[in-house]
Amino acid sequence: MRRFCIAGNWKMNKTPEEAAAFGARFKDRLADVAEAIDVVLAAPALALPALRQSLLDSRVDLGAQDLFWVDQGAFTGEVSGPMLRALGVKYVIIGHSERRGRFGKLEIDPDHVGYFAETDDTVALKVAAAERNSLIPIVCVGETLAEREAGKTDDLIQAQVRTALESAERPEQAVVAYEPVWAIGTGKTCDTDEAQRVCAMIRQSVADLHGDRVAQSVRIQYGGSVKPENAVDLFAQPDIDGALVGGASLEVDSFVKILQSV
Ligand code: PGA
Repeated sequence: MRRFCIAGNWKMNKTPEEAAAFGARFKDRLADVAEAIDVVLAAPALALPALRQSLLDSRVDLGAQDLFWVDQGAFTGEVSGPMLRALGVKYVIIGHSERRGRFGKLEIDPDHVGYFAETDDTVALKVAAAERNSLIPIVCVGETLAEREAGKTDDLIQAQVRTALESAERPEQAVVAYEPVWAIGTGKTCDTDEAQRVCAMIRQSVADLHGDRVAQSVRIQYGGSVKPENAVDLFAQPDIDGALVGGASLEVDSFVKILQSV
């Protein structure tokens, strides 16, 4: 039986003080959340120490939003696996569509999008770095609207899953987040049946790579405008084992309501 895994992705929001205030309020509400769910908060790296302090002795796991694939060296501005481990981080988001330069709601100059430039290959390197440092990767996959309309969704997602996980040493521990790019931050949720279909296809892709036992262990999240209003339907799907929640994880009340939808 897979445990649900629900992760808040705060993206570039919250100072250390704001993170600590959230943590203190959130900790008080955890008694209302079922024990059978793994609860993760992926904060900006700078806010992780304050968030950790505010959540001491709670069941919430810390997450990071990215890591570099080398553990140490001359890589100005990067954050490494050992650094995250030292902060008590357990999960790390890898290959989020925003880091791949693919935005659901474009707010920056399209000419500058390429600077983010995460690719399937760098995602695979980062999965290896996460495993090397005993961090659980949350690997994000998903198609843009143009790719969906061109009928490329399935091939693209299968390729993203394959490249990210084919060399994984502990693929059974990985989390995969299906996040259609056009549904991120836009208020448009993917139809529940379609989200289930794609998540089942992702599980089949994992089975093709690593066999059924691994595929049945991997947790698959849906992400993209998850809110208290749509969480119940999404969580009722057999291949959806949780969610990666952006905007609705920034407020304690809405995040707790999503956790209570399981
Ligand atoms: P959203 O973001 O919930 O704000 O759409 C989800 C994500 O990007 O992980």
